[in-house]
Amino acid sequence: MADHDTLLALRGLSASYGKVAALDPLDLTVERGQIVTVIGANGAGKSTLLNAIMGALPNRGHSRGHILFQGRDIQGWDIERRVGEGLTLVPERRELFASMSVHDNLLLGGFRLHRAGVRGWRDTLDEVYALFPRLRERAAQLAGTLSGGERQMLAVGRALMARPALLMLDEPSLGLAPRVVREIFQTIAQLRTTGVSILLVEQNARAALHVADTGYVLETGAVVLSGPAAMLAGHPRVVESYLGLGRQTAG
Ligand SMILES: Nc1ncnc2c1ncn2[C@@H]1O[C@H](COP(=O)(O)OP(=O)(O)O)[C@@H](O)[C@H]1O
Ligand SMILES: [Mg+2]
Repeated sequence: MADHDTLLALRGLSASYGKVAALDPLDLTVERGQIVTVIGANGAGKSTLLNAIMGALPNRGHSRGHILFQGRDIQGWDIERRVGEGLTLVPERRELFASMSVHDNLLLGGFRLHRAGVRGWRDTLDEVYALFPRLRERAAQLAGTLSGGERQMLAVGRALMARPALLMLDEPSLGLAPRVVREIFQTIAQLRTTGVSILLVEQNARAALHVADTGYVLETGAVVLSGPAAMLAGHPRVVESYLGLGRQTAG
């Protein structure tokens, strides 16, 4: 059983789409305050993992095994209930309301807290603007007119407005220029100060391992390595497959 500092514990979690297995049973732990990364190539099963935790697998996708979140097994709960319990996912496709302002997108992220009558939920807005000064500058701008990096910041900012216990990020570096990737990862490192724990899946192993405490390497649906991020960053198998020359996209 997980101890009190364990936020998320996956035990024998597996997933499939119809009859096709996408994830072999795996164990994974996120301690409170940690940044945990799962690195893997395209198709390794990273999004499947996050969607399984969120309870949001598309296309007859289903998962088995235990998902212990804050000590309770949430396997079988619907998405709404998982969100209410403090889980938030920023999906690969940063779904924003393009025709709404940056500010209104952020307010929508806090809607659930507002509806629940949580006092001071708007204070989170100031925290988000402090983390992302660029969003404050562009508060009135329509989300659809933002650059790729700004859109990613807005997606993360909106997720933070829900004050999640665990923030799950699906490839935040996808499609962004190296300079922007650096900026996004600096902010991810900074997020620690807000008390949120992070589960980050990435193809960009270099950037992800740099910012994470612990890492897992996922290959075709199976965890092949795990341990402290600094250890993984120096592991020959990781260096050869994920950090070799030509893969230095994060700088
Ligand atoms: N909606 C889906 N329906 C059927 N198979 C899927 C679906 N999404 C992903 N898969 C399959 O599951 C495996 C893992 O995919 P995915 O989780 O998207 O990997 P990653 O996010 O690491 O790129 C792949 O073989 C992929 O083809
Ligand atoms: Mg994916």
